[in-house]
Amino acid sequence: MKNDLERDTKFTHMGRPPAGLGTPVSHSVTRASTLLFEKAEDLYRSDVRGYGRHGAAVHDALAELFTELEQGVGTLLYSSGLAALTGPVLSIVKPGDHILLTDSTYGPTRHFCLTFLARLGVETTFYDPRIGSGISDLIQDNTSLILLESPGSLTFEIQDIPAIAKAARAKGVTTLIDNTWSAGISLSPLPMGVDISIHAATKYFGGHSDIMYGAAIFADEAHFKRAQMTAKQLGNASSPDDAYQILRGFRTVLPRFRQQEATSLALAEWLMTRDEIQQVLHPAVSDHPDHALWQRDFTGGGCIFSVVLKPTSEADVLRFINNLNLFGIGYSYGGFESLAIHCDPQLRRSCAATLAGPLVRFACGLEAMVDLKNDIEQSLVSIY
Ligand SMILES: Cc1ncc(COP(=O)(O)O)c(C=O)c1O
Repeated sequence: MKNDLERDTKFTHMGRPPAGLGTPVSHSVTRASTLLFEKAEDLYRSDVRGYGRHGAAVHDALAELFTELEQGVGTLLYSSGLAALTGPVLSIVKPGDHILLTDSTYGPTRHFCLTFLARLGVETTFYDPRIGSGISDLIQDNTSLILLESPGSLTFEIQDIPAIAKAARAKGVTTLIDNTWSAGISLSPLPMGVDISIHAATKYFGGHSDIMYGAAIFADEAHFKRAQMTAKQLGNASSPDDAYQILRGFRTVLPRFRQQEATSLALAEWLMTRDEIQQVLHPAVSDHPDHALWQRDFTGGGCIFSVVLKPTSEADVLRFINNLNLFGIGYSYGGFESLAIHCDPQLRRSCAATLAGPLVRFACGLEAMVDLKNDIEQSLVSIY
């Protein structure tokens, strides 16, 4: 596909079967464990797909789109977002290594490092997400990997990605970013010097809250090949039905993302004006502490953000969530429907300051912004 085309055009036309008389617009799903060969002579060829675990045409098309999205050299597909992180991490670390993990990371990533990697003899140090080039001082001789996530899960700190990537490269350390929030639409970390970008495609690309999926996109062949070998060794595979649904979601992700991003920003700005709210944690809002960094590196927002409520009892926080009519109570984001959770029971931080009130996260769906706003307002009024 020509490079000068806009993303909307590329995401419409890439990854489709060649047009012919009566051909479908999209790839068909072929389900297979066994793939047949015409001749015994072909059984051990390395240049053909030989077995179901090696994927199908629909996987290739989806990988091509992710590679284009992130401007990488290749993509590996996984059965969940978490698997898209743990797989590449396992391709890098070895016993005796040390890794640096942003303190604002997604909870299960933290858990994986502190349990599974610890069992492998890999030590994890948490760093302040706002450390920037100061990360250099934390890099040890045995540091093999720096994990980033920007904005951070739940608390939405923005990291100085180019500064961290530069410090890492100077010392030969690999960087991997969880880029789920931006969908790769409002942030392109690979051209900033990051080696691997991963997505929980479960979110925006699934778009309908009914599929688990993940993707890892690589900036260079060496990291790509290592992770490909690890995926093969671990038996990684994802269903062609799921790959098909994610590819289908990819076709409409840009307009859905734009609407959800606009709704989240409008809600966040309105919430800043409310007396019940102590702080709005959305990097696109002008008084966010990292707003300037966000403006420098991002081209837009995402669909989730948090608010710190004025101090109130836990019972009131639960009542606030329960009184919402249009926000489902559930984890995740990027689906067509809005969600809300209270975050304090899962908030784990080693470096960051504690918040001055209860933390609530909103994920905006495709509902009209005014209805979501009215819903939050009636529930806020009911508890304060
Ligand atoms: C930032 C982030 N990364 C990774 C994941 C994991 O994705 P999955 O649920 O597809 O395993 C999630 C899921 O909530 C997430 O929010």
